[in-house]
Amino acid sequence: MLIDRYGRRITNLRIAITNRCNLRCIYCHHEGVDFRDFNEEMSVREIERISKAFFDLGIKKIKITGGEPLLRKDIVEIINSMPPFKEISITTNGTLLAKLADELKEVGLSRVNISLDTLNEHKYRWITRNGDVKKVIDGVEAAYNADLTPIKLNVVVLNGVNNDEIDKMLEFVSKYNKHGVKVILQVIELLKLPGLEDYYFDISEIEKKYAAIAKDVFVRVMHRRKQYVVDEGIIEFVKPLDNTEFCANCNRIRVTPDGKIKPCLLRNDNLVDAKGLKDDELVKAIKKAVLLREPYFRS
Ligand code: 5AD
Ligand code: SF4
Repeated sequence: MLIDRYGRRITNLRIAITNRCNLRCIYCHHEGVDFRDFNEEMSVREIERISKAFFDLGIKKIKITGGEPLLRKDIVEIINSMPPFKEISITTNGTLLAKLADELKEVGLSRVNISLDTLNEHKYRWITRNGDVKKVIDGVEAAYNADLTPIKLNVVVLNGVNNDEIDKMLEFVSKYNKHGVKVILQVIELLKLPGLEDYYFDISEIEKKYAAIAKDVFVRVMHRRKQYVVDEGIIEFVKPLDNTEFCANCNRIRVTPDGKIKPCLLRNDNLVDAKGLKDDELVKAIKKAVLLREPYFRS
């Protein structure tokens, strides 16, 4: 079991396997990396070795991220090579999911998070700068049929763009939940990066509205996120940087596409290289990275 100096257990690994993306969402922080920087990407073997090392050290869940992870031609092979985590999930924009869903399920993918900020074709094209929303909706459908569930639909709320669309999105997810929880709406507050101030929208306003009509509420350990059950829809709110609880309950560690362990999302000054290391050195590097974890926000 990996535990840092602040007593936080590390149970989740997020491994970014590419910085490339086929969309250009107006708000995207690209996990802090310029998408035009083409960093060398880890090979399947490298990803296999690093995930196995984390698995042996007690990591239970792995999330594959990017960029857009489905752009990797070897994505099926990558998932197939992974050790038997309790959960393997992927965060994708969904545009390439329809064709891949069945195959990914077969090699061990448990579930998917799909970014879908609007159901409106024109708005989607505008937000993503060229995307086709129909492909994403087909992707959701395919993921549902392949039982890559529960699917989480990520909606980043943009003031004046989609802040009035949450009801419609909840209706969209509800139709999949007639026989159990299959699709959850995850409403995400925009990170105010320079230039995005005009689009910022305080999602507590939306949360209050659903809290008032919810028939059930769950609180997740991770970042104390609340999930509200509204008719057949489940809606969760993610306010990334609102308080010290975010850091106090953080159970994640990250790996970058070029094979560096990243102890904290918000820091770039303490990366630990994990690429090309022998097995015992890799274990040492992971332990070192865990000890470098330092809460960014404190009470
Ligand atoms: N604010 C909030 N979330 C963001 N994401 C990317 N950029 C931002 C931002 N500026 C998240 C969204 C998206 C996923 C790929 O990354 O959740 O769905
Ligand atoms: Fe960024 Fe995801 Fe949009 Fe690609 S699909 S530009 S990674 S938010």
